[in-house]
Amino acid sequence: MDYGFFDDASREYVITRPDTPLPWLNYLGEDDFFGLCTNTGGGYTFWKDARLRRLTRYRYNNIPLDSGGRYLYVNDGGSVWNPGWKPVKAKLDRYECRVGLGYERITGEKDGLEIDLTFFIPQGRNEELWKVRVTNKSKVRKTPKLFSFQEFCFYEALNDMTNYQRTWSIGEVEVESGAIYHKTEYRERRNHYALFACTRPVAGFDTDRDAFVGVHEGLHEARAPFAGRCTNSKAFGWNPVGAHEVDLDLEPGASEDFAFVLAYVDQGEAPKFERPGVIDKSKGREVLARWSRPGAVDAALAELRAFWDGLLANFQAELPDADANRMLNVWNQYQCMATFNLSRAASLYETGIGRGMGFRDSNQDILGFVHMIPGRARERILDIAATQLSDGTCFHQYQPLTKKGNAEVGGDFYDDHLWLVLSTCAYVKETGDASILEEPVGYADRDYAKGPDGRRRHADGTPAESLLDHLETSVAYTMKKRGPHGLPLIGHADWNDCLNLNCFSKEPNESFQCAGDVAGSKAESVMIAGLFLKAAAEMSGLYAFLQRPVAAKRMEAARAEMLAAVESQAWDGEWYRRAYDAEGRPVGSRDCDEGRIFIESQAWCALGGAGADDATDAEGRPAASRGRARKALESVHRELYTEEGIVLQQPAYTRYRLELGEVSSYPPGVKENAGIFCHNNTWIHLALCELGEGDRALEYYRSICPSAKQAKIETYRSEPYVYAQMVAGRDAPCFGEAKNSWLTGTAAWTFVALSQGILGVKPDYEGLRVDPCIARSWKGFKATRRFRGATYEIEVRNPQGASKGVKRVLIDGDELGPAKAEAGKGVVLPLFPAGSAHRVVVELGD
Ligand code: BGC
Ligand code: NOJ
Repeated sequence: MDYGFFDDASREYVITRPDTPLPWLNYLGEDDFFGLCTNTGGGYTFWKDARLRRLTRYRYNNIPLDSGGRYLYVNDGGSVWNPGWKPVKAKLDRYECRVGLGYERITGEKDGLEIDLTFFIPQGRNEELWKVRVTNKSKVRKTPKLFSFQEFCFYEALNDMTNYQRTWSIGEVEVESGAIYHKTEYRERRNHYALFACTRPVAGFDTDRDAFVGVHEGLHEARAPFAGRCTNSKAFGWNPVGAHEVDLDLEPGASEDFAFVLAYVDQGEAPKFERPGVIDKSKGREVLARWSRPGAVDAALAELRAFWDGLLANFQAELPDADANRMLNVWNQYQCMATFNLSRAASLYETGIGRGMGFRDSNQDILGFVHMIPGRARERILDIAATQLSDGTCFHQYQPLTKKGNAEVGGDFYDDHLWLVLSTCAYVKETGDASILEEPVGYADRDYAKGPDGRRRHADGTPAESLLDHLETSVAYTMKKRGPHGLPLIGHADWNDCLNLNCFSKEPNESFQCAGDVAGSKAESVMIAGLFLKAAAEMSGLYAFLQRPVAAKRMEAARAEMLAAVESQAWDGEWYRRAYDAEGRPVGSRDCDEGRIFIESQAWCALGGAGADDATDAEGRPAASRGRARKALESVHRELYTEEGIVLQQPAYTRYRLELGEVSSYPPGVKENAGIFCHNNTWIHLALCELGEGDRALEYYRSICPSAKQAKIETYRSEPYVYAQMVAGRDAPCFGEAKNSWLTGTAAWTFVALSQGILGVKPDYEGLRVDPCIARSWKGFKATRRFRGATYEIEVRNPQGASKGVKRVLIDGDELGPAKAEAGKGVVLPLFPAGSAHRVVVELGD
């Protein structure tokens, strides 16, 4: 069954029928104001924080799943329908939804009437626009009535959903010439309100849900659109909504354009009221006037499209693989923006209430975003670092509105702090801006004052601890917190949130993530050890760049100590073990009855440089560990790889294990219990690239590439244009079914794996490194990369059918001297003046 196709030239995915296997989501907004919008108009809108500043309502896990959102009803001579099909679900003559970058364009046609509806959030504005064009394509005059509808949320989403004894008594609105001002709680502590208005005159409005929908009716049979008129109801308490009636009169062939505007208006310090009980509407009127000017809405949409074209131009490629090509050039980068902005907070799987910005998640998200708007990445790194505590532990998440750590979702994940090293180094490599390291950030558990420059200071006037201080604290923390095998303690869990080796939870009402840990446990994580190897190597590279050789050596020494522990304590014979439990028993070992091999430790030990092909001992002789990384990846292929991706571990746990926690709570084949966790697949892709396994890297990449799932979309079910967190593994009856799309570390990491691993275009301190690892069948590829202001137009040629190895480099026609090419690591292209463009030809081969 076909549900749509990629329109590559327009950078749109075109959905051709509304009854997709699951609701397919898109996001509006990319700065402070956001909307979730499905292919039938479902979803909601918020300012900065989906929990604390939600403007419109959405009921998750509804029946049908996706119900409620931005609805436009049409009453065309008594026939009621919606251009987006829902909620009335009348049969349409034509439906199309163009999933665009920052906009969703839904077109519905019935009986010769066409409604073309585009939802988007203009650049830098706190307004959502519903751009409408109504066209009479029939041969007779038509007088359709249109009804807009959405429901207001009382800003704090959890209270809004749970505390009806209060919320049903506080709702208030004002209406001025059909413009609806939602002012609940404005009379007390809020100085913001929501405005929902139309840029053309309306024939009526409703603000009381019972009046527009009815008490016993559902949205699919809402009273007003079926009756063909609004009743100008004024909400008092209960549930305020925003609804307008627009009466049109269209000759055959005629069309009319207008827009609805949903705005978040921050009154700031301005007087709140015009007169007692009447809010000052001057800002709201300005907003409406702005969008009522002819051409303003179209211009804003064009600006949004130009913005995305500009952003994506930082990295474009021409690859021989159409699926990889469109994901890299458009959709993956677009998804990276969403994960950067929203972390894991608000999607169809995350309700916007449970989680804010994750420490570990947001650091990883930066890896896929930093090349687009480095300035925002910089700010984010500093925000995240400020939620680290002085002992090195971190708040596992923080609320975007307050930027304050939130302990409600648990803590003591002993990998968290190390991701900060990776994000910071990625930022410095991208920008060359080492000044970020000196920024006074401070720790979440200390008090600071603000100095005259706005920066944090200690009471004695000295600057707060710098970002570099945080990185040192992070490294020191892992070195200090080690267990009996010399490996890092795991704490509550590491990247695998569900490997809860210290929790021993027997209480069904307890959340695994928040359950406390036994004191003094010695459970250790090999994955953290591997991640540490990588982080320490990054730190030593950073210090080399800063020309601090002593500090670089110190990092190398720490790394060597950890490497020795890994090689002597974590190798299992065919792969690296995953962990040691609280009793010191191995997890992820051939001696285990289930969970014998895990993916994460293979990836991170290899990426951290364990088991290298050229490993030597202290005397310079081949080390016993030589070649283990290769062997571990071979084991991954044999034990874990499937055509839908690599499963997280095998054999799946078939019963609950008190000593392992949530990982064994899931049915076999899903989530962390042997599901295909796409996020960690990408680490294997990168490790394969390190080892020169280009054929396998591409094959593995394709196994989780959503664009390549279109032929099996009935099984896959999720959006074919963004990565999902998880695909059911082979132990599950629904093998191949994707879940939890959009907000996943898969986005950033796939972008890294494809752009830096396979294409090998890697930002580095001294310049742009090019070190491809491609499938031998590829004759080459092209990539345009903006780096530190200059444009590199790179053409990679592969005449000998190699996977890796740079043989020759031409820059603007001149051969680059051999001094620049490092054995096995590609070539570092020199830095060029900002604004200049350079043609680079890289030939692979021996
Ligand atoms: C999930 C993990 C997730 C964690 C976060 C667990 O239930 O399995 O994937 O990271 O919750 O709260
Ligand atoms: C999703 C979480 O957001 C992430 O932090 C975690 O690492 C993975 N699940 C694996 O458990």
